[in-house]
Amino acid sequence: MANPTIENHREDVAGRANVEDTPELLAYYGELGRMDAAALWTVANKIEPWQPKSSSVPVLWRYEDLRDYVLRSVELVTPEKAGRRVIYLNNPGRRDVAACVGWLYSGLQVMHPGEVASAHAHSASALRFIMEGEGAYTIVDGHKMTLGVNDFVLTPNGTWHEHGVSAEGTPCIWQDGLDIPLVNALEANFYVVHPDLQQKVGYAVDDMSHTWGAPGLRPVNSEWAKGHSPLLKYDWGSTYEALQRYAKATEGSTFDGVLMNYVNPVTGGPVMQTIGASMQMLRPGEKTRAHRHTGSFVYQVAKGEGYSIIDGKRFDWKPRDIFCVPSWAWHEHANASASEDACLFTFNDLPVMQSLGLYREEAFGDNGGRQPILA
Ligand SMILES: [Fe+2]
Ligand SMILES: [Fe+2]
Repeated sequence: MANPTIENHREDVAGRANVEDTPELLAYYGELGRMDAAALWTVANKIEPWQPKSSSVPVLWRYEDLRDYVLRSVELVTPEKAGRRVIYLNNPGRRDVAACVGWLYSGLQVMHPGEVASAHAHSASALRFIMEGEGAYTIVDGHKMTLGVNDFVLTPNGTWHEHGVSAEGTPCIWQDGLDIPLVNALEANFYVVHPDLQQKVGYAVDDMSHTWGAPGLRPVNSEWAKGHSPLLKYDWGSTYEALQRYAKATEGSTFDGVLMNYVNPVTGGPVMQTIGASMQMLRPGEKTRAHRHTGSFVYQVAKGEGYSIIDGKRFDWKPRDIFCVPSWAWHEHANASASEDACLFTFNDLPVMQSLGLYREEAFGDNGGRQPILA
């Protein structure tokens, strides 16, 4: 009776679709199919699950495994030919959309001293988090920013941007984070190469940091109406100092330790309209409790060693390792050191979840708030 070409997702629960196949119904479904139509009750339980069902799986990408392959790409392709010389993180559940997790893309990009990538603009919002090397810089709409390890820089949607490493620098590797899969899902992605291939620097180097980077201070008569933060670079020194100072004044979050969001200094909101980012510090020996929430998260270990438990599986991490937490997956973090703090950089799609009214959060209630480890 069952026709393998016609799906029927039945659930024996009041209020859910539970229609058994009959020869008459199967014929009816077949006729609907020929008109590019179908009966909702055959797929309703599948397309409206009881709770979010991420097709992404939790993954940890070890930097020591990937680094040599990233460096090898320098010998294999030029930035001119590749456009962007990047090894991207391909979640086994999201290969069809080249996502690292959910609707977020991420990759590792390498550039040698003196190399410059061509300037371009796209509808996807992007960020970079510097992993190693000296002399990296990014130019966004004429604003040049110098970058060091653990610095975080924005290349917001629609801005002209290009990356390079100064001739006096060293080979640099950074993590890119973009919402390419989301913007493609929304069928709204444009990509433009700069007509001159490179853009001119129009301002003093690091001018946006000098203008917008002082905590609690805003220049007189400053105007900023764009949808992204005018502070395009968030440097590691002041970020780490802020976490250490905040740690003196707070117990921290049960689920995240000492966590601070990178924000747009004009609005106090997320750095870009579709991507949020934060840095969190786990104090020596700290183990957080588990929770889950909607939204996809990509973590990079900025400092220290420890582990995270994601949907019952333990992932041990070291500096520069990257891991992801899919939407609605249980997760908790632990600092393995009794003497050193550990810091995790994160970017996520929380601004999308929050602005669309889709954010939900839940604490893990059993077992003292900690997940049992699954074999
Ligand atoms: Fe780009
Ligand atoms: Fe979380």
